[in-house]
Amino acid sequence: MTETAPRDPARGPLVVRTAKELRAALADAGRVGLVPTMGALHGGHRSLMRLAREQADTVVVSVFVNPLQFGPDEDFDRYPRDLPGDTALCGEEGVDVVFAPETATVYPLPQMVTVDAGAMGERLEGASRPGHFTGVLTVVTKLFNLVRPDFAVFGAKDAQQIALVRRLVADLDLPVEIVGAPTLRDPDGLASSSRNAYLSDEERVSALALSRALRAGADAASGGAEAVREAARAVLEEAAKADPPLEPDYLALVDPATFADVAAGHRGETVLAVAARVGATRLIDNVSVNL
Ligand code: PAF
Repeated sequence: MTETAPRDPARGPLVVRTAKELRAALADAGRVGLVPTMGALHGGHRSLMRLAREQADTVVVSVFVNPLQFGPDEDFDRYPRDLPGDTALCGEEGVDVVFAPETATVYPLPQMVTVDAGAMGERLEGASRPGHFTGVLTVVTKLFNLVRPDFAVFGAKDAQQIALVRRLVADLDLPVEIVGAPTLRDPDGLASSSRNAYLSDEERVSALALSRALRAGADAASGGAEAVREAARAVLEEAAKADPPLEPDYLALVDPATFADVAAGHRGETVLAVAARVGATRLIDNVSVNL
């Protein structure tokens, strides 16, 4: 990093807002690890930062709520934003640089050229949130070009996202290594998510059915694909009768390379993925299931 003396970690991370400031901060950065985020950082992000810290000379966390990946009726406006809190958390994790660009820095012009996520981007999350993965892959490509990291860390909780980012890198020959970080869960099983902040106490109890359904599905693996789907579905059906109810969006057992549904006789690695609404909050979760 370009400074006359090494940065004192006690001063916290350097917060940069523009591409020029970012380039100056990373002029002599050694091996750079990027953790792309939309802020509202929590324990799950901490685990990504720790993984990056182990392997990088310089850890960059990007904090940018990307308008391109939100649909018109989604929570872009009310998405939690807290840059001072995020910067303090990054400081606790020994992050060197927080890149928090304005929207006009990332999108100086209305975006005309975007990254098409292909068929995999139209399934599951892509079917429920049309255009979502085009927005994700476009901003991830921009972040890779702005930060130029040696590697980038993504959480396994967004299984379809990380699978698509891996294909982005492979299909477009991007010179960056993708590192996957396991999903962090609270002791009761709820996967860490910035959107958990929206949940009331009662909604949080109902939301626990997501991880219960995934566990039930994984426990039925020896019975094959149909048994896995059936066991998970039974938990969701029960949760739909709770107060407040869990309203399932999808439950799918898919091939991890394509996110297409696996056939009844399928053998090998699969992903059991679920999305559901509790009140106004939409949550996703997944687990790997070896059939
Ligand atoms: O997972 C997220 O927080 C976002 O989708 C990402 C990767 C930062 C792109 O905006």
